[in-house]
Amino acid sequence: MKKHSVVIAGGGSTFTPEILLMLLSEEERFPLSELKLYDNDAERQAIVGNACAIMMKERAPHIKFSFTTDPKEAFTGVDFVMAHIRVGKYEMRSLDEKIPLKYGCVGQETCGAGGMAYGMRSIGGVLELIDYMEKYSPDAWMLNYSNPAAIVAEACRRLKPNSKVLNICDMPVGIEDYMAVICGLKSRKEMQVRYFGLNHFGWWTSIREKSTGKDLMPILKEHVSKHGYLHPNLDAAHMDEDWRSTYEKAKDTWAISPDFMPNTYFKYYLFPDYVVSHSDIKYTRTDMVRDGREKRVFGECRRITESGTAKDSIFEVGGHATYIVDLACAISNNTNERMLLIVPNNGSIINFDPTAMVEIPCIVGSAGPEPLVMGEIPRFNKGLMEQQVAVEKLVVDAWTEGSYLKMWQAISMSKTVPSVEVAKKILDELIEANKSFWPKLK
Ligand code: NAD
Ligand code: G6P
Ligand code: MN
Repeated sequence: MKKHSVVIAGGGSTFTPEILLMLLSEEERFPLSELKLYDNDAERQAIVGNACAIMMKERAPHIKFSFTTDPKEAFTGVDFVMAHIRVGKYEMRSLDEKIPLKYGCVGQETCGAGGMAYGMRSIGGVLELIDYMEKYSPDAWMLNYSNPAAIVAEACRRLKPNSKVLNICDMPVGIEDYMAVICGLKSRKEMQVRYFGLNHFGWWTSIREKSTGKDLMPILKEHVSKHGYLHPNLDAAHMDEDWRSTYEKAKDTWAISPDFMPNTYFKYYLFPDYVVSHSDIKYTRTDMVRDGREKRVFGECRRITESGTAKDSIFEVGGHATYIVDLACAISNNTNERMLLIVPNNGSIINFDPTAMVEIPCIVGSAGPEPLVMGEIPRFNKGLMEQQVAVEKLVVDAWTEGSYLKMWQAISMSKTVPSVEVAKKILDELIEANKSFWPKLK
């Protein structure tokens, strides 16, 4: 089988060590000849890179490993770029959350005004990665899961229409893992699903057992209407309290569109008042992640580097991240696997903007994704999506045109913001905070 050369962009990410272990655990179907880490922050890259070097030497000495901040070194001779960068890092994520909250609005990584601010930072960073890939490895594919995926995907559609970039999200995968547990199945791969929406903004319309065709929706509706996606058999050790409450809230989200199963992210759009009243501006999600995941991962990386061995490491295989390998294998081995990707609508959702970037099932082979037809969608869901897709498109307009007005319109349009006046206040403060990241808006 062909051995692959991969670079992980955002190599200093808190997710890198467990993704690396996941790649090693999947070597049978996705063999590696070389694995490189790339980041533009040398200090973060070194913390994670030094520990990963020890892990690789002990567990996979046959794979050439290196880490670097030099784009030429990183992007030369690769088959795949797996991208998970966070432009502005946690420092800026924290402001994305806290600035809207100050004005009584949802402050969240990818939703509402904070997500738009992150989009304005991320577009340039992801486009730069595409340029490096195309310069140094023109045949490579980029599998991008850098956020906010909806806005990044729209920017790629417009500005890099011929680039080999696939945008994917792990949220539907994560929810399907839970659905499988709820239905008593061993794996989400035993289900065949239909789904439509935007990234972090979609619904399952059909969930069937693959082997028998049995309709699993009745079991799921019964369960989700009472408990959301929580289930006693779910591995609670791997879910923090914040995510538990998000999975549980799906019960309320389900009720307003009960024919379908909702993505967890509707919590922020459909219950913004609830979200704001349950937020603490002095301690938002970023603070939880820094005190939790970042301390754990960086602490462990430093410990491995100091002790010179990773034999007793607490790092576990990032199990649910195997969807990234599913996607790489689909491209590399033409598996024609059915996966949810963020792709141009192009008529898949018949009564929706053909130029919208939508999240829908696609058959993925070596020529890329072939989206399936999801047909007509109901007015309620369509209405919400039209508003949200306008927000996402306006943000990309604002970035390409350097337009203050478009960004003001985008924030005003969001379901998480009550008025044009509040939108302006949030925008003005975001501009100040993002001075070194955003294009200048006029
Ligand atoms: P993190 O801050 O720990 O890591 C991101 C890394 O990216 C940092 O080390 C940073 O220095 C680096 N970086 C920033 N700008 C860069 C650039 N222009 N070029 C190269 N490197 C750059 O963040 P994290 O919490 O580990 O998340 C990483 C990313 O993955 C985020 O975008 C997050 O939203 C995303 N994510 C996506 C999914 C999904 O399913 N789509 C799931 C989890 C996380
Ligand atoms: C899910 C989403 C990602 C998002 C992440 C945030 O995995 O699909 O898009 O980045 O959650 O998780 P965090 O623990 O950083 O808040
Ligand atoms: Mn996501």
